[in-house]
Amino acid sequence: MTDPAQHEDEYTDELIAFLESIWGWGFLSPGGPEEVARIVDAIDLAGKRVLDVGCGSGGISLALARDHGAGEVVGIDVEGPVIAKAAERAAEVGLADRVAFQRVEPGPLPFPDASFDVVFSKDAMIHIPDKETLFADVYRVLKPGGWLAASDWLISHDDDPSPEMKRYLEAEGLSFGMASPERYRRALEAAGFQDVRLVNRNPWYREVAREELAALEGPLYERAAAASSPATVDHNIETWRAMLTVLESGEHCPHHLHAVKPVG
Ligand SMILES: C[S@@+](CC[C@H](N)C(=O)[O-])C[C@H]1O[C@@H](n2cnc3c(N)ncnc32)[C@H](O)[C@@H]1O
Repeated sequence: MTDPAQHEDEYTDELIAFLESIWGWGFLSPGGPEEVARIVDAIDLAGKRVLDVGCGSGGISLALARDHGAGEVVGIDVEGPVIAKAAERAAEVGLADRVAFQRVEPGPLPFPDASFDVVFSKDAMIHIPDKETLFADVYRVLKPGGWLAASDWLISHDDDPSPEMKRYLEAEGLSFGMASPERYRRALEAAGFQDVRLVNRNPWYREVAREELAALEGPLYERAAAASSPATVDHNIETWRAMLTVLESGEHCPHHLHAVKPVG
């Protein structure tokens, strides 16, 4: 992902349809609107200008405006199919005046300094390996006093991934650049953030992922296969099995991330 020209779409229409059959309308990550509400729980979004980094097919950006009162949400993503889907949906639910979607190149955020009150992101920063540059740029586009509120998929250490983790990453096949909670914290603090808080969501997602796998192997199979294809579902059942192994060991550890850009 360092060379923008080489980025190829990974979230194709078929993968979007498959993931939404598990995670819901506009969601390419687990937990639905309830998990989004937990991430923004401590923040008053009313009337705020929010950037959603890696917005995917749009359900979360729309929820930030509809359920949490954000005044304006700008959802950005590097892939065309997800942005097309998200824009369609904003129009469908009548929120296109407050929620805009924009395809961007991988790399620096294309916004002026101090232009957002809140930067939100859900399970997308995993695709950006250089956490230090990422958080310096998030800090730059935030107004003084602004918040970063995010969740992401982390690895418990920065050594070589275990054979089980390598098996999972290979099965997933997406361009993941995972890093440890310690590296995230250091990168956030080095960028200048204060009140950095990381909360391990492994205990929650470990349970949820077990249920997702049971559903995929059972009652959800036909619907997910009709939305995508039987081959996609079969492949993802294998991916979920590999993922559960590293969730059970704790090596795969989704986290919530919160940090504040100081006022002075
Ligand atoms: C797992 S999906 C999550 C989407 C959405 N946040 C959600 O939770 O439904 C990850 C998203 O990150 C996007 N992405 C990958 N690299 C990115 C980058 N450098 N900048 C912004 N988005 C990126 C992908 O295209 C994909 O839509």
